[in-house]
Amino acid sequence: MPGFRGRDFLSVNDFSRTELVEILKFAQELKASPAAGSRLLAGKTLGMIFQKASTRTRVSFEVGMYQLGGTALYLNAQDMQIGRGEPVKDTARVLSRYLDGIMIRTYEHGEVEELAAYATIPVINGLTDLLHPCQALADMLTILEYKGKLRGLKLAYVGDGNNVANSLLLACSILGLDIAVGCPNGYEPNREVLAAAYANAGENGTEVLVTGDPYAAVSNADVLYTDVWASMGQDAEHEARVRIFSPYRLNEKLAGYAKADAIVMHCLPAHRGEEISEQLLEGPRSVVFDQAENRLHVQKAVMAKVM
Ligand code: CP
Ligand code: NVA
Repeated sequence: MPGFRGRDFLSVNDFSRTELVEILKFAQELKASPAAGSRLLAGKTLGMIFQKASTRTRVSFEVGMYQLGGTALYLNAQDMQIGRGEPVKDTARVLSRYLDGIMIRTYEHGEVEELAAYATIPVINGLTDLLHPCQALADMLTILEYKGKLRGLKLAYVGDGNNVANSLLLACSILGLDIAVGCPNGYEPNREVLAAAYANAGENGTEVLVTGDPYAAVSNADVLYTDVWASMGQDAEHEARVRIFSPYRLNEKLAGYAKADAIVMHCLPAHRGEEISEQLLEGPRSVVFDQAENRLHVQKAVMAKVM
């Protein structure tokens, strides 16, 4: 098996089960003793390209690089030549001459794949319309902390079959959790991602379920998860989506079908009263701020391994 150095992290599926477990373990070590990692990326620079807004991703990557002894550059795509049409493949090769790694948040997943194909340095996916792998890794670390294990648990995701749902499908099916996605007809997770999740699940003896029935999805779950109904770039559809998705709102009634000790997760930012009730988001079972914190720790682990 190749080592980590120089590899991209565009999808949870880019790493094997053993490698993902190793990253989670390393993240736990870095979280327990942050000083231990303080020279791991000394002298190295991460470029962070943003086509979309961000609070958690931007700050956690920047602080993460700082804590590892390196530097991060915030690159607003609108201020770069890429925003005026310079090809991705040229940007990739130019940035590879200055930087040691690139983190990118953009719309089209194919753009990130092209960037990675032409860059000679590791590329990390900080969210595309298709996937959000760093979020899913942080979520797995959070579940591990609360439940003491991953294998054998059931995660229920209700709402839009979006980038977060897609990456959770991959992460759960590789790491041994059953996953049920409850979503309206026409808002299912990506077809190819689902096929990959079914294949992972077959290898690992886990279950993947996609259903239109939110109650069937959350039934007996250990983990309840939701995300916004209109993702970045879908603002124009917001009103229509609120109508379509309202039966999938994660509230006390729906959560009542899960296990009594089920934790409540959301990648944030959240729209209270839309995809999640204020009561659940602020309630004792909510672990949303641990998820946000764990972005820092898992991304430090990924960066220290690949850069
Ligand atoms: N969860 C997440 O990626 O948040 P940001 O959009 O704030 O980065
Ligand atoms: N699905 C959301 C996640 C934000 C972190 C979006 O893409 O806007």
